[in-house]
Amino acid sequence: MIIAIDGPAASGKGTIARRLAAHFNLPHLDTGLLYRATARALMEAGERLDDEACAVQAARGLALTDFDEDKLRGREMGEAASVVGAIPAVRAALLDMQRSFAHRDGGAVLDGRDIGTVICPDASVKIFVTANPETRANRRALELKGRGEKVDFAAVLDDIRKRDERDSHRSSAPLVAAADAIHLDTSHLDVEAAVKAAITIAESKR
Ligand code: DC
Repeated sequence: MIIAIDGPAASGKGTIARRLAAHFNLPHLDTGLLYRATARALMEAGERLDDEACAVQAARGLALTDFDEDKLRGREMGEAASVVGAIPAVRAALLDMQRSFAHRDGGAVLDGRDIGTVICPDASVKIFVTANPETRANRRALELKGRGEKVDFAAVLDDIRKRDERDSHRSSAPLVAAADAIHLDTSHLDVEAAVKAAITIAESKR
């Protein structure tokens, strides 16, 4: 069973994907980490984020196991990941890695922006997770605070809106719900209620 979870930043898709993976005993890939790690490799090498050749080389050099999540989860890296994610050649370089993870025996859970539309159009379960921008900014601000970052709510909300705009309007694999995805709005749900709703959706599609 392949479960595809897509949605905008801080919609709750990562938590839902992790919990679904635990519930169904499936491996989980947070595909945002691939774009974050690509951006970080470029920044560490002193290259520009929009240098296509360097970005493709960085993407090809990634291994699924070597993510230092602590260094990748910050605010700056989310924004940088959105910039490299808008380069079609970077998306192409990361495609096979994601598809082979998804098609392993027994299935997998993947979360991102284009899992149900591009990476796994054949997924048996597709959930598009949303929440209003203010709720998402609140969640992201709490998460960043928990990581010890200094947080300005207005700046976080601005980031979320900018990222929505860039991720939804890029030419290659924009953030959009697959026609056969089930929408799950988590604006008024706590974590447990959101996870329960997602499990119910997945069970109904099995
Ligand atoms: O899910 P996230 O916040 O970690 O993702 C960071 C950025 O990476 C996101 O704003 C756009 C990009 N991304 C993408 O383009 N496609 C994906 N499947 C996952 C992330």
